[in-house]
Amino acid sequence: MNYVTSLKSASEVKTDCLIIGVFNKNNLGIAAKNINDVSENIITKLCKSGDIDTAIGSTKIIHSAKNIKADRLLIVGLGDKDSFGHDEFRRVNQAAMNAIENIKLTNFANYLFLDEALNTKDYYKGRHFIESYFSSIYQFDQLKTGIKKINPIIKKIIIGISSKNNSEKVKLGCTHGQAISLGSKIAKDLGNLPANVCTPSYLAKESKKFAKIYKKLSVKILNESMLKKLKMNSFLSVTAGSKEPAKLIEMHYKGAKNQKSHVLVGKGITFDTGGISIKPSAAMDEMKYDMCGAATVIGTIIAIAEMNLPVNLSVIVPACENRPSSTATLPGDIVKSMSGQTIEILNTDAEGRLVLCDALTYARRFKPKYIVDVATLTGACVIALGHHRTAIMSNSDELSDELMNAGDKSNDLCWKMPMGREYEMQLNSNFADMANIGGRYGGSITAACFLGKFTRNMKWAHLDIAGTAWTSGAKKGSTGRPVPLLSQFILNQSSIDI
Ligand code: BES
Ligand code: MN
Ligand code: ZN
Repeated sequence: MNYVTSLKSASEVKTDCLIIGVFNKNNLGIAAKNINDVSENIITKLCKSGDIDTAIGSTKIIHSAKNIKADRLLIVGLGDKDSFGHDEFRRVNQAAMNAIENIKLTNFANYLFLDEALNTKDYYKGRHFIESYFSSIYQFDQLKTGIKKINPIIKKIIIGISSKNNSEKVKLGCTHGQAISLGSKIAKDLGNLPANVCTPSYLAKESKKFAKIYKKLSVKILNESMLKKLKMNSFLSVTAGSKEPAKLIEMHYKGAKNQKSHVLVGKGITFDTGGISIKPSAAMDEMKYDMCGAATVIGTIIAIAEMNLPVNLSVIVPACENRPSSTATLPGDIVKSMSGQTIEILNTDAEGRLVLCDALTYARRFKPKYIVDVATLTGACVIALGHHRTAIMSNSDELSDELMNAGDKSNDLCWKMPMGREYEMQLNSNFADMANIGGRYGGSITAACFLGKFTRNMKWAHLDIAGTAWTSGAKKGSTGRPVPLLSQFILNQSSIDI
């Protein structure tokens, strides 16, 4: 995409569509005021007649403005000027992008940057705007036949700025926004693909493809016999009932010398039937999304590679299916994990922690600065936080604070939940070092405590994305979360000035 910043006034810019904003109480934004002045007070007239709604996020397209160089105007309601900040800027940009999504444009000019958004840096204006653009054009129709939506033909995006000094950071924000959007798109596509296409082998194959595109990226795939040699019996117990071979995918991005690696681990259950502890059939199709942890850590490493950040990042994905069969693991079975600790599997549907614990043990060999695992781990998390925030559980307040901060900056929100010995005791087993379930109450926390037994002496955080990774209902689809949060987090750790 070609991003151009322009110092031209709104009335002078030549474009298929010019985007301007109006605050409540007929308070015109800078660009709207300019158009109003040259075009016989068209904006104030339309506000008066009620054709323009200034409530935040309302949109209106008009073709009739005189003495301007743009073919059409998109007028966006900005709400109250006094409270126009970071979040409002993002919301009006998203509304604007949704409004032009179905119009055949070859370019457009966004003049919403001219007005000040409280506490918002130029960089984040660029970032959030471009992320809204790419999220509005996202579609998943690769498995539909017949007429498809026309692909966007936009080749150039113009951004109106008031001073040359703004240009560099706005453009950096746009470039990073595009990289993060690419990472989100990859995560969404992998998530939305059904389990008969997106198998562990498919994930491995796709990862290998990415390594061909980015010079600094390398990929290694471990097959089941290698996993056996590594004594990953906990991971292998989950795939025992499936004919699809399990894979452990390792991706390494090397963007710096002599720096410790950031390590992300993603749960890659390409379908979760529950195994012998089988799930009820209602909405079971959504368990194709049980690999969204994997999809988002893969999406994140691509975003980082695309931004060419001076960091080292490794991604580990334990990928397999969880199915019942005559060879499936039975409730009560005891396995010895790679760490040497034994686990009594009381419920085969608590499989995520069984694949993650071996992957976390394996990740130690990379001597990470810290490890963050990402998983659609518990239904209980959706009860606790709903669909709006990802849960964080961590053995390091510093790490969880940084993740919270990255969530706020990227508008990919999360919230910290507690851990502790009292919760951990719920995992006590009569027959092994621990059980894989801790009872009905505090289910997300006991799941985290289980993982915590495999991350001792490492700085570690666990993100439970069960509520945020996808949406159900008429708009069923993967959200790509938390690619923005993780990308922001790694950006914050890098030496890049934003
Ligand atoms: N993948 C599921 C968690 C899940 C369920 C996420 C529904 C989103 C929506 C996980 O493997 C699972 O089945 N967890 C069990 C754990 C329980 C058996 C302790 C759960 O949450 O019911
Ligand atoms: Mn399960
Ligand atoms: Zn699962």
